[in-house]
Amino acid sequence: MCALRLRYHPSFHAKAMNDVQAPIPVVVRGASGRMGQAIIRLLGARSDLALAAALVRAGSPATGQPAAPGSNVIATAALDEAVEARVLLDFSIAPAFDEGLTLAVERRLAFVSGTTGLSAAQQAALDEAARSIPVLWSANFSIGVAVLARLGAQAATLLSEWDCEIIEVHHRNKKDAPSGTALALGRAVAAARGIDFGAVAQPARDGIADAPRDPAAIGFAAIRGGDIVGEHTVLFAGAGERLELHHAATDRDIFAHGALAAAVRITRLSPGRYAFAELLGQGMA
Ligand SMILES: NC(=O)c1ccc[n+]([C@@H]2O[C@H](COP(=O)([O-])OP(=O)(O)OC[C@H]3O[C@@H](n4cnc5c(N)ncnc54)[C@H](OP(=O)(O)O)[C@@H]3O)[C@@H](O)[C@H]2O)c1
Repeated sequence: MCALRLRYHPSFHAKAMNDVQAPIPVVVRGASGRMGQAIIRLLGARSDLALAAALVRAGSPATGQPAAPGSNVIATAALDEAVEARVLLDFSIAPAFDEGLTLAVERRLAFVSGTTGLSAAQQAALDEAARSIPVLWSANFSIGVAVLARLGAQAATLLSEWDCEIIEVHHRNKKDAPSGTALALGRAVAAARGIDFGAVAQPARDGIADAPRDPAAIGFAAIRGGDIVGEHTVLFAGAGERLELHHAATDRDIFAHGALAAAVRITRLSPGRYAFAELLGQGMA
């Protein structure tokens, strides 16, 4: 996670003050997916946000259909020029991510994304976009996971000699492994120990090892099955004892609630790259 300070931009603030009663118009991209549908459903129950457009993949059977049961917004593959929006919420897939980020920059929309499996080039594109729009990408919009990352970093320092392994469990349809959240937790541990994550991350083990475990390694194990929403364990193993910090998500709505809370806050901020944990620090929990 980056550690930028929140920067309030007078024009965003003035706009927010003027629209104090008006809901913030939101574009949801990946609208036909599990997260997209959860976000649209929860948007319907809020007075501070309103669905302005629902974007789906070109050729998707959802095109031309109501964005969700009872919605008067019709799902489209392209954002109509006439649609006025302030923020784009992207929960799609990594190969489709660039297109969404480009759209946000072109239309000067704040950008909030939870799409995982991004490449280093896509992360760099987020940094570049942050020069012109407010940008928040998070591998996990759960408040509990944000706290888990902080606790993991603390334990990594206190137990600096202990081995660290991260175990994640997800539903059978998850495409990327290890999960973006597991990698973010690993980065938090590495940063707390002052080591280069890329040099110590060990994403998979198979076969017969020709050397003992590297004490600095951060190992990952990914389990897939059924409809498990998402579980993460940061395990620290010492001699004769171990500590496990565990988070279980039982309801996908937690991510949607977190993303919507981020969408409200980011529209008040100036261009820049923000982390979900920073917004937590602003009383979001
Ligand atoms: N950060 C978090 O807290 C968090 C939490 C949960 C999930 N996630 C991540 O969020 C993403 C979505 O998760 P999900 O469970 O909702 O997956 P999903 O059900 O597979 O939804 C992905 C959606 O993206 C759509 N899509 C693909 N290409 C597109 C394009 N060019 N334009 C618009 N939409 C496009 C897909 O449409 P088709 O089906 O028509 O191809 C699908 O509806 C994944 O990367 C997942 O790992 C993040």
